[in-house]
Amino acid sequence: MKWSVPLLLLLVVLMAFGIRGCATSETHSMRPPSKIDQKVNQLLSEMTLEEKIGQLNLRGTSSRTKVLPDSLKQAVREGHIGAFLNVMNSDYVKELQTIAVEESPHGIPLIFARDVIHGFKTIFPIPLGLAASWDQQVVVDASRVSAVEASAQGIRWTFAPMLDISRDARWGRIAESPGEDPYLASVLAQAYIQGFQGDSLNDPTAMAACAKHFIGYGAALGGRDYNTATIDEAQLRNVYLPPFQAALNAGAPTVMTSFNEVNGVPASGDEFLLDQVLRKEMQFDGFVVSDWNSVLEMINHGFAADQKQAAELAVNAGLDMEMTSRTYESYLMTLIEEGKVNESQIDFLVANILRVKFQLGLFERPFIPAHLDGKIYSQEHLQKAKNAAIKSSVLLKNNNQLLPLEKNTKIALIGPLAHQAREQLGTWTFDGEAEASITPLMALEEQNISLTFVETLSYSRDKDKSAFTKAVKAAQESDVIVFIGGEEAILSGEAHSRASLNLPGAQEDLISELAKTGKPIVGVIMAGRPITINTIKQHMDAILMAWHPGTMSGPAIYEMLFGLAEPGGRLPVTWPKTSGQLPLFYNHKNTGRPVNPEKFVQMDSIPVGAWQSSLGNTSHYLDVGYEPEFPFGYGLGYSRFSYGKVHIDKTVIKAGDSLRVSVELTNIGDRKSHEVVQLYIRDQTASLTRPVKELKAFQHIDLDQGSSTEVVFWLKKEDLAFVNRNMEKVTEPGLFNLWVGADSSTSNGTSFTYE
Ligand code: GLC
Repeated sequence: MKWSVPLLLLLVVLMAFGIRGCATSETHSMRPPSKIDQKVNQLLSEMTLEEKIGQLNLRGTSSRTKVLPDSLKQAVREGHIGAFLNVMNSDYVKELQTIAVEESPHGIPLIFARDVIHGFKTIFPIPLGLAASWDQQVVVDASRVSAVEASAQGIRWTFAPMLDISRDARWGRIAESPGEDPYLASVLAQAYIQGFQGDSLNDPTAMAACAKHFIGYGAALGGRDYNTATIDEAQLRNVYLPPFQAALNAGAPTVMTSFNEVNGVPASGDEFLLDQVLRKEMQFDGFVVSDWNSVLEMINHGFAADQKQAAELAVNAGLDMEMTSRTYESYLMTLIEEGKVNESQIDFLVANILRVKFQLGLFERPFIPAHLDGKIYSQEHLQKAKNAAIKSSVLLKNNNQLLPLEKNTKIALIGPLAHQAREQLGTWTFDGEAEASITPLMALEEQNISLTFVETLSYSRDKDKSAFTKAVKAAQESDVIVFIGGEEAILSGEAHSRASLNLPGAQEDLISELAKTGKPIVGVIMAGRPITINTIKQHMDAILMAWHPGTMSGPAIYEMLFGLAEPGGRLPVTWPKTSGQLPLFYNHKNTGRPVNPEKFVQMDSIPVGAWQSSLGNTSHYLDVGYEPEFPFGYGLGYSRFSYGKVHIDKTVIKAGDSLRVSVELTNIGDRKSHEVVQLYIRDQTASLTRPVKELKAFQHIDLDQGSSTEVVFWLKKEDLAFVNRNMEKVTEPGLFNLWVGADSSTSNGTSFTYE
């Protein structure tokens, strides 16, 4: 064929950008091909287009499937399915994998996936609780135990960690989130990947992690799940992206797109996000999976006219694998024939998936090794789950050092979550078992604590007050009331947003009635989010936020109530007084009229008939003011600490310098205790306004009573950087404030200049 110059030019242009500017990445060509790349390319060269499209299909099933349909087996046999979700019968896993490796055209093994979010059988605290531990080892333990238990059932891919920054507790999925802070979320992201994947994806106990949901899912309008996220690009890069970058840096091989649109474009079809940001800038070379039907839902969004266009948009945006919907399977062949999708784009997507299958060792070892027993519910696993529940629990109030209790205290154990083995496991615990879950009642009885148990309300939304009298009587005959309430598991998690965050049902009335007995009350809250307690907190002398603590809730709560262990948690989210304040977060901007205690006028103190004035002219609510119930980073221990002044070794630093920051910490209480010392900065003046505080470091310190220690941090130029209006990561010269304290409300600070 004679190549005319114009035709050659056209070919060069098309090759350079692809027929439709498809989202292919130079990433892979930028690094030298590995042995796995060579295997991938060899296999790819032998596959038919039909087989390639088959690899892009993640077929959903139900873990309650009782039969394996022949149609499903035949689809595997023909190479039309690349991965399965929720096949929870290991016989089915073996049967499907046998068909795939022995009967399909090129014997490409399947990946089996599951949402193993905070435990498989041994359930750990919900992720928001794990975030409250601020402890990487706790998160590594939780995800490693999850992987050991789940991989023994053939699960080699988990849809976790969820890394959505969440600033609105109305959003049900805040329960699954790492909280509101990008730095803390990034530290935890790295730990999740390390735990799920271990030292190598090739290890049979490794589960490929999936950083989700990309991106901005937690910014849902009004905290209503699946709703619109409008995020300017600098905010996207300064707040929402960092945890994903941390996960990729730690080796996460898959990413899941979010249901929501970001600035008008559904994430599953957003080429800017999936190619420009994820592939080119973040150098991602794993594969991207959609969320459940999120490709199809681009029709609902009003972004795709029909399933065929949805497939075209998603593939050309760079979405590798379609979860549960089947637009790829139905339309890609046609789209390629019509020239709307390049086969080279399909090759790019399939290569990403095959690469991960090779990395997981599935070609060499497609079946569950016989020696893998998962150590399900082993003492080691249960001990780690109990430790996590203790390290995650946040002591919010402890008047008169009511806690810890003496062992001989006579307790009235009251409330709808004192003995609910299933509810205390929390959201996203498909495989957790109530039979293995130890409740507070069970643990206290096991320890022969003197108690009278009156559940009073049989579930968290129960409004039946008929047992109140019995509860009050038990309280009157006891030394201390231990109320355990909060939310059933179903009241948080996916699609479970709430407009009011009060205790559901008649729980508040019950607490008010119990308070009339004059007995001290310990309130233990189990919930998937901060609960607004401003109308009842005065009735509780001590308040312990346990989140949903998991399988070992009971032993953990027993040990904390009686001082065998100290609650170790610090709030990973700001705790609101009322849901009307939301979204509410500590790392907010200062605005032109920041709150001013001197100028604030509380609504009830406004004179009747007051002359029209702007009542303080600052950014607040007339009724609830401007402060949270409890600040980000807050949490008490069983002792008290004092902080010395913050010392820095320079008042001016330049690029390349490190700033030594130190503070003297003293345990001034009467028992050994643990503190999370937190360091915050503020870039006082910048080309883009910066938050009033940003967490940049923290340290866990254990100190005997009466002991002191110098806590030292080092700050570098990179710690001061942010993404500016030109999307450049910069550290701008100027004044920086710096604080070191027990939580984000600390005023223990100093300042320095970066030149
Ligand atoms: C769900 C969730 C996602 C989960 C997926 C598979 O709808 O949004 O987090 O991993 O479907 O269960």
